[in-house]
Amino acid sequence: MGLFVPGRRPQRVHGRPAELTTDATIGGALHKATIRDVDLAGKRVLVRVDFNVPMEAGRIVDDSRIRAAIPTIKDLVERSARVILMTHLGRPDGQVDEAYRTRPLAERLSDLMERPVRHLDDSIGPAVEAAVRAMQDGDMVMLENVRFHPGETKNDPAFAKHLAALGDLYVNDAFGTAHRAHASTAGIAEYLPAVAGLLMEREIQTLGRIMVDPPHPLVAIIGGSKISTKIGVVRSLLQRVDRLCIGGAMACTFFKAKGLEMGRSLVEEDQLDVARELLALAGQGSGTLVLPLDAVIAAEARPGVKVATVAIDAVPADMKVLDVGPMTVERFLQTCDGAHAVVWNGPLGVYEVPPFDRGTDALAEGLAGSDAETIIGGGDLVAALQKQHLADRMSFVSTGGGATLEFLEGRMLPGIAVLRDKNDA
Ligand code: 3PG
Repeated sequence: MGLFVPGRRPQRVHGRPAELTTDATIGGALHKATIRDVDLAGKRVLVRVDFNVPMEAGRIVDDSRIRAAIPTIKDLVERSARVILMTHLGRPDGQVDEAYRTRPLAERLSDLMERPVRHLDDSIGPAVEAAVRAMQDGDMVMLENVRFHPGETKNDPAFAKHLAALGDLYVNDAFGTAHRAHASTAGIAEYLPAVAGLLMEREIQTLGRIMVDPPHPLVAIIGGSKISTKIGVVRSLLQRVDRLCIGGAMACTFFKAKGLEMGRSLVEEDQLDVARELLALAGQGSGTLVLPLDAVIAAEARPGVKVATVAIDAVPADMKVLDVGPMTVERFLQTCDGAHAVVWNGPLGVYEVPPFDRGTDALAEGLAGSDAETIIGGGDLVAALQKQHLADRMSFVSTGGGATLEFLEGRMLPGIAVLRDKNDA
């Protein structure tokens, strides 16, 4: 039996801010113009996508980000636009790096679209301009990695202007890079009308609703190793959710702050005050913050190591907490029972090293079968879920890593801020 009566809004718990802090700027993100609002036929449309996909020896390991942009690209092609795609890949530091050429991305996109996607060897310059001039309606080209030019990450207006000269309209579909104020994600909008693509729209609508008009009961689950990287999102979500479950190594810092011994676990000693502050913000003992009950421990996170499951207050001095135990998974699932929506960011254990992936997998299995809308907040957790083919069973999987976290912290991302409002499109 869960903590919620389905359909009924749970009582406000002690210690939570009385008023929901609706952020007007994030609210503004929900009203951005999209490709639905503009005429596209015969237009040269410059589309910023985030095809920054994991690669191994020149091969794409996971093409989810490419697939996620297909609805936008298809729509543009079907509406007779001339589609000029630009992306970054890796961090080539402003110079040409053979390992980060976008050709394999163009090839994969071409396979998925079942149409040619011409790869160009640069992102600006006379040869690129000539290739774009030769395009017909419905054609697609992909520019070379925009980060081969130092002007990209410096948001250099001259570089942004060169890119802008290739198009009549700018479409930002790169939610995953929207937290970067770079030439192709932000600066370019100075020189072209700028609207959102369909992926960007879906990310903004799904995550934005959590921020501005959260459906209740709402549960968040935050994992990962460090409080220092999650403090903003924990603080922000505490104002919006009914329950917040903490997993991953960061839970150890909370327990240490509460006076428990965590053995040789990863504890951020310099974040103990932050942990105490968050415990106070949640209203200690109110039940808003749900911490693990048990832990899977071992001497090190390596395959084949001897493991044990112990109560959270019985972690031996020479051991590390490397995953949550089954009682914790059960507790988190009970907390989600009856929830309208569950937002989950960050794995619950060292998921890269079995068996410390079990807690994350078990929770994902449980959530996949639940009635709640399940929103996965990008990053490492997506890789963890994909490993077990569980990502497809969630309602929504964000394509952002850092961008999703910053959005859920309540920040207006530069790549969204520059887009036109619906009323002005
Ligand atoms: C990501 O993978 O998070 C985005 O593509 C942004 O990449 P970056 O961190 O190199 O800017």
